[in-house]
Amino acid sequence: MTDKTARFTTGGDASIELPVLDGAIGPQVVDIRKFYADTGMFTYDPGFTSTASCRSKITFIDGDEGVLLHRGYNIEDLATNCDFLEVCYLILYGELPNKEERRKFGYDVTYHTMVHEQINQLVRGFRRDAHPMALMIAVVGALSAFYYEDLNIRDPRNRMIATFRLIAKLPTIAAMAYKYSIGQPFIYPRNDLNYAENFLHMMFAVPCEPFKPNPVVAKALDQIFILHADHEQNASTSTVRLVGSTGASPYAAISAGIASLWGPAHGGANEAVVNMLREIGSPDEIPHYLERVKDKNDNFRLMGFGHRVYKNYDPRATVLKQSAHDVLTELGKQDEPMLKIALELEKIALDDSYFVDRKLFPNVDFYSGIILQAIGIPTSMFTAIFAMARTVGWIAQWNEMVEDPEQKIGRPRQLYTGAPPRDFVPMDQRG
Ligand code: SDX
Repeated sequence: MTDKTARFTTGGDASIELPVLDGAIGPQVVDIRKFYADTGMFTYDPGFTSTASCRSKITFIDGDEGVLLHRGYNIEDLATNCDFLEVCYLILYGELPNKEERRKFGYDVTYHTMVHEQINQLVRGFRRDAHPMALMIAVVGALSAFYYEDLNIRDPRNRMIATFRLIAKLPTIAAMAYKYSIGQPFIYPRNDLNYAENFLHMMFAVPCEPFKPNPVVAKALDQIFILHADHEQNASTSTVRLVGSTGASPYAAISAGIASLWGPAHGGANEAVVNMLREIGSPDEIPHYLERVKDKNDNFRLMGFGHRVYKNYDPRATVLKQSAHDVLTELGKQDEPMLKIALELEKIALDDSYFVDRKLFPNVDFYSGIILQAIGIPTSMFTAIFAMARTVGWIAQWNEMVEDPEQKIGRPRQLYTGAPPRDFVPMDQRG
């Protein structure tokens, strides 16, 4: 807490002073909790571009410097030296696990990977061509119909069980969505595989023969999970916090987060990037599409570019760009046309003043789709994988919100621009 204050003149000689609060690092905040009571006015911030919604210790982003920290550790170090469950432990509990803590955490996640057999019937109620994200929204929300004790979210033990269930079951549910769409039988999780290997097993194994996950592919997938695990108060995380602030089930809150992530402006961008690269089709076509981007009458956007916070390179994209090269080379797909188009598109865009002036650099979604495509994941599953990885961030932020004494039900106000009060007009007097 600083003794610094911010003074607002509110008309004539009237003014108010509001406290300025310090974070551990990063921008200070003006505490405006008393602003309406003191001034009779609301602040106005559509999209919350200048609004801090909470205190949090989990993730720090410096958009100008391209820095992303989880509990103080930079994302490049975590993505290079850890596995996903190690990062999950860090995000949830605030410290990197020792060997025994990592073993125990992995055991607890592993032994929650199966879903209730009735979930199989639930999935079978969908059309075969249901989008995996639609199915995951429904099935994850439905978990609140299978686990009632978690509904008392004030009990830390209930929150801990819900945390393990969600991290463990999202891959199982996502793989079920894929298997159902291709008419193959659901594959049960295996307790002898790690998190990424198990997901590949549930996605690509068939009952007729043994399946051995490719270690290069598993490692690339594990790193993609790490790079998507949490990202401060993005749209889907803010959705989880807002739903959670009413005391709703954690499964309902995470289901709402999945729904929010699905949008092409958010997590749906990785699927949109690959579709865009397919549409561009050849490096020769790139100039035509860049002209479309600049045409205000054309709503074509360069998917995978731009970010609300990063006004420099997205550090996750830097890691994924290297990983894309390594994985495609390892798989003998280094001449994949899509990678060539992406690299050429990035090169041209980063020299183009339209993108440079608007600080539109590649974001996390630009390269992730190329890697997922190369390892055989169907495009429709890209955002489902983002949701699987982001579940640990969502549930960690949800736990932090529930435990935060300052948090209360989220209920923003508005600037009303509608009709002023007017007399009622009976039906027979209306024009
Ligand atoms: C994620 O918040 C997070 O942390 C999200 C995320 C996470 O980990 O949770 O990082 C994951 O969602 C990454 C972003 C994925 N989305 C996309 O790649 C979709 C394409 N990008 C955008 O639609 C856009 O850049 C946003 C949504 C990401 C950010 O939008 P902003 O901050 O609201 O910026 P804006 O829409 O106001 O754009 C500013 C200017 C505008 O031009 P002008 O009106 O000033 O002339 O930049 C232009 C926009 O038209 N612009 C783009 C563009 N993105 C912004 N022009 C072309 N292509 C783009 N991709």
